[in-house]
Amino acid sequence: MKIAVLAGDGIGQEIMVEALRVLETLRLPDLQLNFADVGGVAYKAHGHPLPQETLDLVMSSDAVLFGAVGDPSYDDLDRHLRPEQAVLGLRKEMQTFANLRPARAFAGLENLSALKPEIAGAIDLLILRELTGDIYFGDKGRRETADGLRQGYDEMAYDESEIARIAHAAFKAAQGRRGKLCSVDKANVLQTSVLWREVVNEIADDYPDVELEHMYVDNAAMQMVRNPGQFDVMLTGNIFGDILSDQASMCVGSIGLLASASLGEGSRGLYEPIHGSAPDIAGRGIANPMAMILSVAMMLRHSFADENNAVRIEQAVAAVLEQGILGHDLGGKASTIEIGDAVVAALS
Ligand code: IPM
Ligand code: MG
Repeated sequence: MKIAVLAGDGIGQEIMVEALRVLETLRLPDLQLNFADVGGVAYKAHGHPLPQETLDLVMSSDAVLFGAVGDPSYDDLDRHLRPEQAVLGLRKEMQTFANLRPARAFAGLENLSALKPEIAGAIDLLILRELTGDIYFGDKGRRETADGLRQGYDEMAYDESEIARIAHAAFKAAQGRRGKLCSVDKANVLQTSVLWREVVNEIADDYPDVELEHMYVDNAAMQMVRNPGQFDVMLTGNIFGDILSDQASMCVGSIGLLASASLGEGSRGLYEPIHGSAPDIAGRGIANPMAMILSVAMMLRHSFADENNAVRIEQAVAAVLEQGILGHDLGGKASTIEIGDAVVAALS
């Protein structure tokens, strides 16, 4: 089990310490952790947010644990040197086109959701976000209009093979859950979405056991707040999935609770919280490590086929939350280390 550990910037460092403590509590044989720089810290030390040596380590590993990147002191750098480019570069290099972002209600947190408790309690959904295409990776830049105005542009594009592979992943995920798939697009306006819908419908023929519906993204955002319990698997493109997954996190209670797995064709994966580096609270020991800890569980499940230990970690996290050991993001007082301690104790 060769794991590349990239803690990155801000709270990434603090939450990674706790996630690794949890991983080590499992006493897995053959665990090999290798550390490398990424993001702003990598730019500072090596002049690039994703240095070649970090990339080499990643490409020779079975899995990557990724904390967070982003540092406001680098906001004025050229786009290709900004810390965020590290995570985009990693996703592209690793070809992790399928991003799994589960959102599930935790017992005891119903009152902390931004939604009414009875609505929040029903959340058990999985966002399947396409991760290596769309407006994120299209042609982009600056140009001048005919009138001499500055113009920024970003091309949104998907080809049918990109849509097909993420659609297959979503239908399979739905088969392993409640058999419902909602494909989210903006086919009333965007050509990329018209093709998206066409391809998803073609692929649906291979999965007669999955109930498919299509929804416009604006409606999906509204429905997620009105009645999130209606969703099982939500299939979306890169930009819509980015936005909907942040929204899903507040429906559960906090962005500090949502983990993600990014997968390609093989078993190698990139595992990271959906939140960022939170520079406003970095270094104060109050970041919630739960999303990072749950990312370890997803790594065990998807890269190492260790469902048993994945479930153990998830149950330990749920038990700690139910005991009311809550981070500052959830209105509690528990520090990063105290939450890590509690999860370790629940596992032993
Ligand atoms: C996420 C983040 C990233 C994204 C940023 C940091 C580039 O918001 O993982 O959701 O937009 O994908
Ligand atoms: Mg995001």
